[in-house]
Amino acid sequence: MDRVRIGIVGIGNIAPLNVAGYLADPRCDVVALCDPREDKARQMASEWGVPTVYTALDDLLADPGVDAVEILTPTHLHKEHVLAAIAAGKHVSCQKPIANSVADGVEMTDAAHRAGVVFRVSECFFHYAPLMKAKELIAAGAIGPPTMLRVKTVVGTTNTTFQNQLEPQGYVWRFNAQSPGGHLFDDIVHKYATALWLFDQDITSVQAVVRQAPLFFEAPTAAIWEYQRETLLGMMEVTYAPHMSLRSSYYGADEFFEIQGTDGFIWVTRATGEMLDLPPVVVYHPDGTTTGYSNLDADWRSGFLNSSRHFVDALIEGRPDPEMTGELAVKTLQLCFAVYQASNERRPVDPASIRDAVSPPWWPPNLAETPAFLERYGREPI
Ligand SMILES: NC(=O)c1ccc[n+]([C@@H]2O[C@H](COP(=O)([O-])OP(=O)(O)OC[C@H]3O[C@@H](n4cnc5c(N)ncnc54)[C@H](O)[C@@H]3O)[C@@H](O)[C@H]2O)c1
Repeated sequence: MDRVRIGIVGIGNIAPLNVAGYLADPRCDVVALCDPREDKARQMASEWGVPTVYTALDDLLADPGVDAVEILTPTHLHKEHVLAAIAAGKHVSCQKPIANSVADGVEMTDAAHRAGVVFRVSECFFHYAPLMKAKELIAAGAIGPPTMLRVKTVVGTTNTTFQNQLEPQGYVWRFNAQSPGGHLFDDIVHKYATALWLFDQDITSVQAVVRQAPLFFEAPTAAIWEYQRETLLGMMEVTYAPHMSLRSSYYGADEFFEIQGTDGFIWVTRATGEMLDLPPVVVYHPDGTTTGYSNLDADWRSGFLNSSRHFVDALIEGRPDPEMTGELAVKTLQLCFAVYQASNERRPVDPASIRDAVSPPWWPPNLAETPAFLERYGREPI
């Protein structure tokens, strides 16, 4: 394939970040948009210079001028939309999480293999330069064999243009029974995926405590996990800080990653947020010196741009996408559900044992309880 003619399915909140990389790529034409919200699709088609708008997925899939699709619909629709696209012979990139259940993710992955089309899950964290640098440094032995991964996520308040422009319809399906879980399912999948991808090691056992927080948040959460290699462990914390102003250009979340090795450590000091005045990657070397990588593109948006370019690369080079395969997306989902199950049952859980989906006991949340929850977080409702 010399050029990629791509159709975009679902023109909601995340579409501008995903589509920007395809629009900027000289080897790619965004040929069609599809969304039942015709006005929204037409508005964005005119802004992006896209010639065709469909309101039904079948019509877009019947278009022989479309080689590949980017699926940006609500997660509970991924299975139906990905299977339809594969059946129509299109190559498919789909946003995370792959699906609402492990069985669905396996079915989608198998269908793509049978049809011989490229299927990948778009994971912006795998294409975020500071995390790519960390993975490269680990593989090069900069800190010796890794022994511990620590991943911190904090959600606070932010007043960014990006956040203020989000359409409320994007929250409805995230906060009700159309999703199997809340924030740990919707956002922390990025961190679960990163924990698997950084080391190319499976996770064999998980222990966790997950608490309910306002809206769809699940915090504080603490989890520990074991990798295949006995000398490597991982731990993760998720906190909710509604009265803490969070420096960001996007969502009100911030991440911090520490990878400790036998010879040194690596810090990745940001991803979605921009909280700390530190280089995005800091390495502590065996001889006690440190290197700060200040020259990396640490704008979280760049992960989306690189991810789109990566999909175009794969199609033009005619190879399966090597970063987020369906198999890795399924393992990521199993890890996500293993954290819920380990907390529900207060026992270690092997992610590979999960075949379907697991929800926290309070799911879906009763949103009427949000003011009371916020009081429990230490202040009057905000
Ligand atoms: N990588 C990230 O950081 C990131 C961030 C946000 C969202 N996401 C993922 O992207 C996906 C979309 O999230 P969002 O926040 O944009 O949601 P959203 O609800 O804002 O947008 C979804 C869009 O899909 C459209 N849609 C619904 N049914 C459709 C159909 N049958 N055919 C075509 N379009 C249809 C809706 O009208 C809407 O415009 C989700 O899977 C989400 O998890 C990823």
